Amino acid sequence: QTEIIPINARQPEEHVLAHAVTLLRAGELVVFPTETVYGLGAAALQPAAVEKIFAAKERPYSDPLIVHIASEADIEHLVRDISEQARQVMRHFWPGPLTLVLPAHPRVPRLVTSGLDTVAIRMPSHPVALGLIRALGAPVAAPSANRFMHVSPTTAQHVEADLKGRVPLILDGGASTVGVESTILDMSSELPTILRPGGVSLEALRVLLPQVQPPRARSLANPDLAHEVEAQKSPGQMLIHYAPRVPAFLFEGASMSMRHAMLLELQRLQRQGKTVGVLIADEDVAYFQSSGASMYVLGSEEDSTKVASRLFAGLRTLEDAGVDVILCRAFPETGLGLAIRDRLLKATGGKLIPC
Ligand code: TXA
Ligand code: MG
Repeated sequence: QTEIIPINARQPEEHVLAHAVTLLRAGELVVFPTETVYGLGAAALQPAAVEKIFAAKERPYSDPLIVHIASEADIEHLVRDISEQARQVMRHFWPGPLTLVLPAHPRVPRLVTSGLDTVAIRMPSHPVALGLIRALGAPVAAPSANRFMHVSPTTAQHVEADLKGRVPLILDGGASTVGVESTILDMSSELPTILRPGGVSLEALRVLLPQVQPPRARSLANPDLAHEVEAQKSPGQMLIHYAPRVPAFLFEGASMSMRHAMLLELQRLQRQGKTVGVLIADEDVAYFQSSGASMYVLGSEEDSTKVASRLFAGLRTLEDAGVDVILCRAFPETGLGLAIRDRLLKATGGKLIPC
């Protein structure tokens, strides 16, 4: 009972948007493409509709949702007050892959904010997402359209694999271009702080906000600390929440040492009769070509934008290939590299192997 309708990603067809709006008005869910990942949308100001998001995803109510808007004016009804600094950030980065955490207006349903006194807001740049919100004439609450704990979807087929039969409509606008979720920036207190690295880089934020605080390092070295601190500030960002479907390991070090350590581990696993998938860079291909591993090549280690855009598809492709173990290589932390590392740590459940 899940309808999948193709929609033009540049000029979304009006009648398709109108169909989606009819469902949203009736309190139903609609999956739509954004430039980051696909979103599982509901009318944000209808608590009964928002509740369906949590049921479809099997997501705990303690994990708050992002409210998506289509114009700066939409924000007035959702937040209590906005600093001049927050306004500047919006004007510079919206529409785009940046979510701002701001003091919530009491009219925002508690289900959306998980009872926090802040609300996360984003204006996506994808024409289908913008067109949908405009046609509805109201904000849309949407988490990533995956099952809870699974990798976020960057195509309608990824959504289908996770949510078929659980949502009435999926709008298929092709692959998301950014490929990792939005950067979440907390602007509800004095010091702007990144809660989740994402599609807008730290470097880009620093140009406008020199004092921006980088996200807290997340590693297996201090999972308890990471868990505690993050639980307070950004629920749903806890490492402990993520369990990869296939055991996965992240190798981190200089390129040559990473390759060497991955090849050794690969051979060890193969001797145990295991099949292995490797998530690698262009520069690694020659080393793994005849290794017997299933390879997914993300792009050059220098090109964090391309690597980010292919990351989730790569993880899903190796999962679907049915490998027993996935070995991932780390990437430099510049540009979208921080987001890549964050998602790889989540996908591996923090299983980091320094080399
Ligand atoms: O790119 C994206 O952000 C995608 C697309 C669909 O827009 N959405 C997305 O939503 O990634 P989701 O639900 O998978 O992640 C949203 C996260 C929550 O897990 C939570 O950590 C954080 O946003 N969040 C939401 N409201 C918050 C708040 N008031 N304070 C702190 N963190 C919040
Ligand atoms: Mg998500």
